[in-house]
Amino acid sequence: MNGIVVTQEPNGPLLSWTTVPDVNFAPDEVLVNVRATAVNRADLMQATGNYPPPPGASPILGLEMAGEIATLGEEVEGWEVGDRVCALLPGGGYAEQVNVPAEMLMKLPDDWSFEMGTAVPEVWLTAYVNLFLEADLQAGEIALIHAGASGVGTAAIQLARAVDAIPYITAGSEIKLGRCRELGAELAINYKTEDFLEKIKEATDGKGVDVILDPVGGTYLDRNIKALNRFGRLVNIGLLGGVKGEINMALLLINRLTIVGSTLRSRPPAEKITITKKFESGFWPLLKDGTLKPIIDTTFPIEKAQDAHLYVADNKNIGKVILKVE
Ligand SMILES: NC(=O)c1ccc[n+]([C@@H]2O[C@H](COP(=O)([O-])OP(=O)(O)OC[C@H]3O[C@@H](n4cnc5c(N)ncnc54)[C@H](OP(=O)(O)O)[C@@H]3O)[C@@H](O)[C@H]2O)c1
Repeated sequence: MNGIVVTQEPNGPLLSWTTVPDVNFAPDEVLVNVRATAVNRADLMQATGNYPPPPGASPILGLEMAGEIATLGEEVEGWEVGDRVCALLPGGGYAEQVNVPAEMLMKLPDDWSFEMGTAVPEVWLTAYVNLFLEADLQAGEIALIHAGASGVGTAAIQLARAVDAIPYITAGSEIKLGRCRELGAELAINYKTEDFLEKIKEATDGKGVDVILDPVGGTYLDRNIKALNRFGRLVNIGLLGGVKGEINMALLLINRLTIVGSTLRSRPPAEKITITKKFESGFWPLLKDGTLKPIIDTTFPIEKAQDAHLYVADNKNIGKVILKVE
């Protein structure tokens, strides 16, 4: 089969669509013909050699896919060859075929494209896990979502609204702020021209927000802590702004704050299955009926994965960048 192979060149990683070994599948897995996958920041890091896949995962890039079941493992029940599905993957999505534990599959609605299907697993499950299972976001609470126009951010805004919480966001351009407002952001802050801490304090009468979903890390840590209300929860999911920060720990104690670090990929398969099933029963129906929408920016053919990675690295996307596999 074909898949994306990464080679390290003097001016950075080079992604080529070429022959790769066929995949095997276990008795409780299905083999899927991949029709679409999507670019995630983790793929960019993995391509540079800085983010190895977890033990046992495919070395091929790709944390999600949508496609059609090609073959069923002998223990698999409840699925048929030809079923249209999507799933979170530990790797291996940038290829013509991938093996997936049957319990990880979500069935695509009939009127959904494969591009819509692959726009869901990684960013919606990340937003879901962190807003609800880690931060316990409640109706009426304010959630500050940094990188609001990112794949994760566009899902998080909608999920917060779906439970009657109030999403505030930060983003780096007026176009991104506008799109986030359309998706439900109550307050949209341009972090390049405004200090998000000042804006949050102003909007909340000095109280601060209840939850922060933060992919930035180091450079935001101090202001994130200062932007939290009493009993506030900061969930860090990324390090776009560096790995080091300094905080006044007195604020942590006095305001009884919680800081959580969280990754989805490194969780064991059983935990990912539980998360998928909880999401499927809680929010998948709202995606199916169109109340919530996967947000797609651009679709590239998988042969142009290199261009898709450069597009994401340049922060051009609002929502997901899809790779179509024909
Ligand atoms: N922990 C997990 O399990 C998990 C899972 C999935 C994703 N993530 C993380 O979540 C983040 C979002 O992922 P994604 O795939 O949705 O990303 P994405 O669509 O590629 O968007 C990321 C956005 O972050 C903003 N950004 C980049 N560098 C920044 C910086 N230094 N300071 C502030 N904003 C910055 C940019 O938007 P602006 O133009 O607004 O600056 C960029 O478009 C990434 O950090 C990713 O690694 C974590």
